[in-house]
Amino acid sequence: MNAEMINKVNSGLRKIVGCCAAGAQFFLLLLLMIASASSFAQAIVTIPIETQKNVLILQTDKDARLGIVYFGKRLSNKLEYDAITKQFHLISDNMLTFNSAYTPAGTFNLLEPAVQITHADGNMSLDLKYVSSETKKLDENITVTSVLLRDPLYLDEITLFYKTYFKENVVEQWSVIKNSEKKPIRMQKYASANLYFLADEYYLTHYNGTWGNEMKPEEDHLTHGIKSIDTKLGTRANLMEPATFMVSFDKPATENEGKVLLGQLAWSGNFKIDFEVDVFKNLRLIAGINPYASEYTLAPAQEFTTPAFIYTFSDNGKGEASRNLHHWATKYRLLDGQGSRLTLLNNWEATYFDFDENKLTGLFKGAKKLGVDMFLLDDGWFGNKYPRNGDRSGLGDWQENAKKLPHGIGYLVKEANAAGVKFGIWVEPEMVNPKSELYEKHKDWVITQPDRPEKYYRNQLVLDLSNPAVQNFVFGVLDTLFTKNPTLAFVKWDCNSVIFNAHSAYLQKMGLPQSQLYVDYVKGLYKVLERLRAKYPTVPMMLCSGGGGRVDYAALQYFTEYWPSDNTDPVERIFIQWENSYFYPAIASCNHVTDWSNLPIKFRTDVAMMGKLGYDIVVDKLSEKDLQFSQQAVATYQSISDLVWHGDLYRLVNPNQNPMASLMFANLDKSRAVVFNYLTNTRFMPSASPKPIQLKGLDGAKQYTVKEINLYPGVKSSINNSNAYSGEFLMTVGINPDVNGRRASVLLEINEVKK
Ligand code: GLA
Repeated sequence: MNAEMINKVNSGLRKIVGCCAAGAQFFLLLLLMIASASSFAQAIVTIPIETQKNVLILQTDKDARLGIVYFGKRLSNKLEYDAITKQFHLISDNMLTFNSAYTPAGTFNLLEPAVQITHADGNMSLDLKYVSSETKKLDENITVTSVLLRDPLYLDEITLFYKTYFKENVVEQWSVIKNSEKKPIRMQKYASANLYFLADEYYLTHYNGTWGNEMKPEEDHLTHGIKSIDTKLGTRANLMEPATFMVSFDKPATENEGKVLLGQLAWSGNFKIDFEVDVFKNLRLIAGINPYASEYTLAPAQEFTTPAFIYTFSDNGKGEASRNLHHWATKYRLLDGQGSRLTLLNNWEATYFDFDENKLTGLFKGAKKLGVDMFLLDDGWFGNKYPRNGDRSGLGDWQENAKKLPHGIGYLVKEANAAGVKFGIWVEPEMVNPKSELYEKHKDWVITQPDRPEKYYRNQLVLDLSNPAVQNFVFGVLDTLFTKNPTLAFVKWDCNSVIFNAHSAYLQKMGLPQSQLYVDYVKGLYKVLERLRAKYPTVPMMLCSGGGGRVDYAALQYFTEYWPSDNTDPVERIFIQWENSYFYPAIASCNHVTDWSNLPIKFRTDVAMMGKLGYDIVVDKLSEKDLQFSQQAVATYQSISDLVWHGDLYRLVNPNQNPMASLMFANLDKSRAVVFNYLTNTRFMPSASPKPIQLKGLDGAKQYTVKEINLYPGVKSSINNSNAYSGEFLMTVGINPDVNGRRASVLLEINEVKK
């Protein structure tokens, strides 16, 4: 009898049990127990989830419970997978308690569960048995394996999905929970993924931060017990703690060595990832939506699809793992990941809220003079009854302010186009100032506790996206802009507030539990973005938050780029961009040259070039030489952008351990590269770069020239341009960029000498 049959018998029995007398019930229950007992011991099922280099092996036990028996390097002989369990002498009867592929709560398991359910009858126990599995090849590279598990008693079903991207060594994992009962069930916990790793030691790198100080890495040696990373902020969820992390196995991985997993929950809301070192010193990982205040009800036959947990593993260090993610993201996830991006001039730091038509049209000319593709109009263009002349009013009232812009956005778009640049616009459509017409008209659209004082974040509140009327409104903000201005070229979608006082008037009206708000908010947001992308599939959009509080691989399906931080001090940015670069490709990183720091414009520009270049300055205030430099820099950027956007990133010198940073982008045919080098510590030292830096990603047999580029007008390079070096030399001995106090940022272009 296989698991499917047992489940069918059990299902039939339950139906009969429901209508029979007590004596018969006893008899049938006895039968049920026998059916589940060892006389029906299961054939062991082994399910390998493979990518080019790695494998995750799922295996059932004699009771048809699914466990993880191996994760790591792929074996060439698949037949050997079956034998793996025999090599681990973990206490066998309890073993699956620890290595469960999706740990249920309330039965034999007393560890942190992946799923916790209250059944229609109030019972809180769940057991999951293997029923069947299926592997579908979607194309040469992508395969989806699904494994169906079922509770033998209540018949609720959970399907685990593993989508593999073979060449990129990336796995996307999620689960679908289905209510098979006659009445609603309540889910207290519903993780996306439950993994199990067997190694000697574990080192978790996670990030913390706050506004202007994002992505500060910390590495913890994990010991017994649970370490969790999570957020409860609701929106812009990762302001303080993003859902991205690394785990090194055995010893801390470096850029080029060690076993390391890079992971993320692709969800723009509350998340929780638990790392539990168990009694066998193995690591249990459970990642999903944060169960905090998020009990979710499922109607009969209803399914809940969890967000995806995305991860990659490399046994060659963090560099390779991050390139896996970049390759995957640009090909499969980031919107237009293989396309190009618009350079731009933004007016935020140049004008803040203080502008009018004349000032803006003057700035268009500056954009053209600089040579960028687009002008981006930031916050402050809307609101009439409560003009948006500061951050205390107007948010939500998306009509042009008649005083500042008497001829409307349409006129600005035309003027910008006439000046030779495209036009983009800022919106923050999920939010509202209490001082706004929207708030006055639709208080019921606002997330707030009806009988408690309001609590604001940047003087604003969050709109209730669980409400379809609010979804329509948010869609309408963008749809109206695009309909009225078909040549609108870009949107900066901001999101500056967290959710305080989580309460939805809509859910209350509908008789739905308040505990669905955090989840339904994010689902509502994705619905709006889906709709927008169906109608406007290609317009580039930036995912922004006051501070880099909002980037993840669910949102990046709809966005072409993200804003890592309001902090544009270039030295700070080197560190912030460095850490983000482990998870996101450079083409998605919006980096602006601003007046935030006093460092020379060359330094500021070089740093901004390591991604998507933008400016947030008044071009007319630049000195003649700074302007000349900037014009050349925009042209230089155009010549190297293909490397930055589509090349492979190699981190060469880590600023967390050295007084300088160095990283390079090499194209895939190894004919061209660009190397960025920066002094990051200005304390006295004999030389910041006493040693050469070994390059990567070149062809040892090829000859290359090394040329310093992006020099400030009149400055001579100390790098000899006339030499040619073999790839072997550049990767073994290296090249010294001669970084020092006078040459604090140095860009080198590497070109193959064509015979
Ligand atoms: C946020 C963004 C900034 C700017 C302001 C406008 O802080 O990060 O770039 O758009 O909002 O209010």
